[in-house]
Amino acid sequence: MKPEILIEAAAQAAKKAYAPHSKFQVGAALLCADGTVFTGCNVENASYGLTNCAERTAVFSAVAAGHREFNAMAVVADGDSVPFPCGACRQVLNEFCGGAFPVYVASADALESYQTLSLGELLPHGFRL
Ligand code: THU
Repeated sequence: MKPEILIEAAAQAAKKAYAPHSKFQVGAALLCADGTVFTGCNVENASYGLTNCAERTAVFSAVAAGHREFNAMAVVADGDSVPFPCGACRQVLNEFCGGAFPVYVASADALESYQTLSLGELLPHGFRL
């Protein structure tokens, strides 16, 4: 699948974000090995620490549906900010994905100017049991 397709899916998912506290809307799209795409958005809470990021929403949805092999992820934030995944999401991706796993990040205002980062670049020496 072309990165642009996954990035567009993430941009659509960002529109579903529940972000009344930060007003920072993020969407993620996760490509499974069988070609299925799962999307996710950030879901905030008045108790801020309970917030779930878009990336983890997508990963948890995919795993809950029986998927464990993933080929790529796109992350898009509303406006002109580029959403580099937080440390928690990097570690969650590390549970299922190898260092070469590509993560495409883009702002909604400039989807075509996406950056590609490998999980290994985002999280060197990720923790594994
Ligand atoms: N957020 C994400 O969903 N993904 C990221 O990559 C960065 C941050 C969310 C969490 C919170 O709802 C809001 O953005 C501000 O931190």
